[in-house]
Amino acid sequence: MSEATKEHALSRAQFNDIRRRISVYAGISLAETKHDMVYSRLVRRLRALRCHDFDDYLQRVEADTDGERQAFINALTTNLTSFFREAHHFDVLGRVLAGYGGRRIRIWCSAASTGEEPYSIAMTVVEHFDSWTPPVEIIATDINTDVLSQCRGGIYAAERIEDLTVARKRRFFLRGSGPQAGKVKVRPTLTRLVKFETFNLLSPNWNRFRDLDIVFCRNVMIYFDKPTQARLLRQFHGCLNPGGWLFVGHSESQVRGTEGFVSQGHTVYRSQSAEVAA
Ligand SMILES: C[S@@+](CC[C@H](N)C(=O)[O-])C[C@H]1O[C@@H](n2cnc3c(N)ncnc32)[C@H](O)[C@@H]1O
Repeated sequence: MSEATKEHALSRAQFNDIRRRISVYAGISLAETKHDMVYSRLVRRLRALRCHDFDDYLQRVEADTDGERQAFINALTTNLTSFFREAHHFDVLGRVLAGYGGRRIRIWCSAASTGEEPYSIAMTVVEHFDSWTPPVEIIATDINTDVLSQCRGGIYAAERIEDLTVARKRRFFLRGSGPQAGKVKVRPTLTRLVKFETFNLLSPNWNRFRDLDIVFCRNVMIYFDKPTQARLLRQFHGCLNPGGWLFVGHSESQVRGTEGFVSQGHTVYRSQSAEVAA
């Protein structure tokens, strides 16, 4: 869309203010080329709030009296995901679970998006233990409150599970009918295994993420700058038990070379304790 036909003008200064804000609020480094993307995502918020222009809108984000800062974050995060994305991770996860014997295992899925990733973890867990009450706690977090609502509901377009085996579809999903035709719902027995919470990875308050055995942090660090990525990796190391596992996205190879993590194959790492690493 040309600037002339746009409903609201988005000046370079306003665009840069948006880039600065999303970096401060969520750690996301938005490239200069994302002008059109930012416009199309935020113009809906201007419409919904009947703002006069982007300055008016940004004042509302700044004042944050009616939760607009969270809506701004929700609008600007990218939530692309799928069930069993990077499938090799779930084969590895099955073997990792076997290594824990019967002891209780704590898993954190730290950028859960719309839920496909934490539910893929939960399916792998149920299959491994062949039980709906496995000795596993799964915590799934995301900064975006809209996607977390979708996680909790567990309702997806049926095409989203097209590539799953028939056995998985039957075991883990209910097929919608009537007004819900074309949709599937995660069975409540699976939903119950995952605890969903809002969490900003930039938050200094990581206390509740202690004694973890497995962390998934996939396809989110790519949005952060290098110092933020390095800090996060140190924090993940701090909250994993010695010998704990970290799964990262296919393009997030920066873990290689991070002290305390040892590669276990493609984008899978294991935490060494200080004594082991020494
Ligand atoms: C591309 S999705 C990846 C989803 C999933 N991990 C996967 O690999 O399929 C990135 C997710 O990271 C979340 N995110 C972005 N910045 C975040 C932050 N600072 N803290 C927590 N989550 C964040 C987004 O809301 C989005 O749901």
